Amino acid sequence: MARNPFKPTAGATPPVLVGRDSVLEDLDEALEDGAGSPYLLQFITGARGVGKTVMLTEMGRRARQQGWIVIDETATPKLIQRLTSAVRRHREELGAPSRRRITGAGISLGPLGGANLALESPDKATPGLREEIGMLCDALDLHDGQTGLIITVDEIHTIPQSELDELTAITQHLIREDRPLGLLMAGIPQAVERMISDNAQRPKVSTFMRRAERTSLEEVPLHSVAAAFEQTLTEAGRSVSPEVALECAQATGGYPFMIQLVGYHTWRIGKTGEVTSAHVTAGREKARKRLGDLVHAPALADLSPVDRTFLTHMSQDSGPTRAIDMQIRMGEGSNYISVYRDRLIRAGMIQPAATYGRFEFALPELREYLRDHAAQLIAQSEN
Ligand SMILES: Nc1ncnc2c1ncn2[C@@H]1O[C@H](COP(=O)(O)OP(=O)(O)OP(=O)(O)O)[C@@H](O)[C@H]1O
Ligand SMILES: [Mg+2]
Repeated sequence: MARNPFKPTAGATPPVLVGRDSVLEDLDEALEDGAGSPYLLQFITGARGVGKTVMLTEMGRRARQQGWIVIDETATPKLIQRLTSAVRRHREELGAPSRRRITGAGISLGPLGGANLALESPDKATPGLREEIGMLCDALDLHDGQTGLIITVDEIHTIPQSELDELTAITQHLIREDRPLGLLMAGIPQAVERMISDNAQRPKVSTFMRRAERTSLEEVPLHSVAAAFEQTLTEAGRSVSPEVALECAQATGGYPFMIQLVGYHTWRIGKTGEVTSAHVTAGREKARKRLGDLVHAPALADLSPVDRTFLTHMSQDSGPTRAIDMQIRMGEGSNYISVYRDRLIRAGMIQPAATYGRFEFALPELREYLRDHAAQLIAQSEN
């Protein structure tokens, strides 16, 4: 029996990366153009489960294929330190020497430098991230002059402020020096916006980051999802009619995490042979339940009890919610409601709705999940 090709796991590369061609074309072009290309400095934003992590992975894979050095990181504390060691390792692997600075003079000690010059203490002389990247780029330049270094940073909105400042300053300098450096960062949209705007007290630094390209990952068109189902199932030895493939696609709502979940569970129900409409119906039910466990439950667990109560009250509406209704339901004033609304927007749980002043859930099936678990969620909040 063939293996199930679908990958319903956070960060797992899917069999087909649906609907992301144009984003990848921009990157391919940037890799070709090299230093100074706008898409080498990019924020990739989108709701949870929309495919930010797998996008960084795919971008990294393409860059490596073109001969670039790629370092993948997550924005947890000590990011700069980890990046520095990673760049150093790559530099050493390339056999590039370290230039050590001379006390006071601030110039490099080349290979022919005088032996009687005093060096800084070993600690201070250890090159930082900016110097390491500079040396690595010099070495790459000697190799072929066509490639460079790509750094991907996932969950960028969780970065400590001081590390963001440092990363910004270093990147800005290196780009000014025309270094072939790419910085691809992914995070939740509103949290990323806030992260950049919080920098207002350091206008130069934050302007630089604000000018980075923004790529917003959205849900993907259903016809592309259907085509991907046909392709994946056929390649894995199953068959499916175009009508059933479209049914499968409709069950996902174009939401990438659901593409993998619906695919995975629909596959499991039949196991071999043709995929039928009955398989899709059963697969979709299983997928919805799993989405709750995999996406909604952990997202809710990250929130405060009041946040969860707020969302649970929102789930009474079958469309966008009005602030005034929330005031009544929660027995609080308008300030209180807007504070929580803004917190939840930044957390990527809700978003402003098309109708002015209203807001709605940012994740598919979240309303249904909250309704199913309302009693439990409110009890948790009261404890
Ligand atoms: N374009 C796509 N086509 C098909 N499946 C996709 C696509 N993008 C992501 N997926 C699948 O969706 C799931 C979630 O992807 P990923 O973990 O990259 O999302 P994310 O945006 O990083 O989520 P989070 O915000 O929770 O970190 C994975 O199972 C992945 O295989
Ligand atoms: Mg992710």
